[in-house]
Amino acid sequence: MDSKKSDGVLVLHFLKSNRYFKYLLLLSVLGSGLLVAEHAARQEFSADMGDNLMLYRRYIMDTKGAHLKSIRFIVKENIFLEHIPMHASMLMQVTRDMRDIFPTDSTSKKSRAKSNIWKKNGELEDEFVKNLDNLYLQAEKLHDVAMGKDYGAIKKQADILARSCKACHYLYRGIRTEFDDRDF
Ligand code: HEC
Repeated sequence: MDSKKSDGVLVLHFLKSNRYFKYLLLLSVLGSGLLVAEHAARQEFSADMGDNLMLYRRYIMDTKGAHLKSIRFIVKENIFLEHIPMHASMLMQVTRDMRDIFPTDSTSKKSRAKSNIWKKNGELEDEFVKNLDNLYLQAEKLHDVAMGKDYGAIKKQADILARSCKACHYLYRGIRTEFDDRDF
């Protein structure tokens, strides 16, 4: 008898005779039951609030877009510079709540969110959270620098802020969908 074959026979014999085997079997059946239940819960989420979530997410993103547009306009035209701290702190507040609008696996045909936003276990990817934290930080810096009168420094920080939006979009925002009529 070659050794492979005898190994197989040994394993078979072990499985048959081992009294723990049936518990192992039971556990694995229970385990896969749990997996199915978790999957069903995720499905339920998208059926319940999928479209509303996608819509609300766009409204939140548009809010950010409007503040950034305002900042860039102010800097370009050199008017209402004293409004920049307000726009910057609004961006900080919106950014703080942004985690809420990316629940696990919330992708859809109506969304440009890519599936690499989430880890396999459903948590937000560390790099995505880092991008969020960076946006918050850059908005805070703009807020502080705009309290002063140094136009050059304000302009520079506004550019850095805009780049922090683009960095995340590059990694986590997919191609335009047919539902998109605007872009940033
Ligand atoms: C941490 C990642 C991240 C950061 C930082 C980020 N975004 Fe986004 N943004 C996204 C993702 C993902 C989407 C796609 C969401 C969807 O379609 O469901 C998106 C979508 C948008 C949209 C909606 C329009 C479109 O093309 O889908 C606008 C506008 C937008 N972002 C503006 C901004 C602005 C302005 C900033 C910076 C002030 C910013 N974003 C920073 C991830 C980010």
